[in-house]
Amino acid sequence: AAIMKGKFDHFMQKEIYEQPDSVVNTMRGRVNFDSSRITLGGLRAYLPIMRRGRRIVFCACGTSYHSALATRAIFEELTEIPVSIELASDFLDRKTPIFRDDVCVFVSQSGETADTILALKYCLERGALCVGVVNTVGSTISRETHCGVHINAGPEVGVASTKAYTSQYIALLMMALQLSEDRISFTERRNQIIEGLHALPGQIKKVLEGDKSLQELATGILANSRSLLLMGRGYQHATCLEGALKIKEISYMHSEGILAGELKHGPLALIDENMPVIIVMTRDSLYPKVQSAFSQITARKAQPIVICNEGDDGISKGVKTIRVPQTVDCLQGLLNIIPLQLLSYHLAVKNGFDVDFPRNLAKSVTTE
Ligand code: G6P
Repeated sequence: AAIMKGKFDHFMQKEIYEQPDSVVNTMRGRVNFDSSRITLGGLRAYLPIMRRGRRIVFCACGTSYHSALATRAIFEELTEIPVSIELASDFLDRKTPIFRDDVCVFVSQSGETADTILALKYCLERGALCVGVVNTVGSTISRETHCGVHINAGPEVGVASTKAYTSQYIALLMMALQLSEDRISFTERRNQIIEGLHALPGQIKKVLEGDKSLQELATGILANSRSLLLMGRGYQHATCLEGALKIKEISYMHSEGILAGELKHGPLALIDENMPVIIVMTRDSLYPKVQSAFSQITARKAQPIVICNEGDDGISKGVKTIRVPQTVDCLQGLLNIIPLQLLSYHLAVKNGFDVDFPRNLAKSVTTE
């Protein structure tokens, strides 16, 4: 059946708005909220091998790479297996050493990205266990991996990936949760995350209700910006890289995601009263460190827009804020990315750009 835009102007907008449902589809039949158990049928037979793996290597491109970055910390925390994440092209360029006891996870919306497929072939040849995290059923990566998880986000048409990101993120989280199931010491942490997943669809709806103010940012203070820096750290580093990618892809504005911990090692030199900055300051254990980054940039006259939690009164008056509900630290990125998706959308629309088919880009890059 043809996929229709319905009441939306663009597929990207429709896909952003689908997220309260697409995340539910990703979890359906897999997260049991009563028993706090996760069942990923496609992995069942391979769980013992995965748990014995000496490391987990994620391989992906673009937005899919960011979903791996976003979940790396929780993977390491829950599985206590070292995790490395690789951009498929660079992984191949380096001829990275891969061994039989490695677990390689290939994340791809389309399942047809050439670099990711080549990386998969490379790992298969070296005898590693190869796991797919794919949206498109029957795609090359879905067929050629040993096992995997379909993210079930439904077809994504817009070149700029949105709902696939949040669904990949959740699929990877579920994988980490299931891998750590045999670890009693993590029971409480796992339950906390599963409760967070339960509340997530409603919270996403809440974030989407703030759309108007993001449109105002795009047509107001950011309307004539040539550049936009996004800063954060920890779980929010991925949010910043993914937000900057959205902005580049469809609004053609220069945008850079910056790890706040690296601020002093270069990016601070860019800061003055004319440099637009968004800083992600939702509450987690790194909050004091992000606060200090905030002080460092305001001391240099930047007027950052702050993504923070509802009810956080630690942000001084007069600061422009984008408020999102609070969730568990490792899930917060699922909410924080949404205002950035909407912002990039509105920046593109305001400029009359082709939101769904940005210049020079393809939905699926099938050549090296
Ligand atoms: C292209 C698309 C991106 C996507 C990337 C990886 O660059 O424009 O939106 O993130 O490919 O695609 P994949 O299908 O492997 O996730």
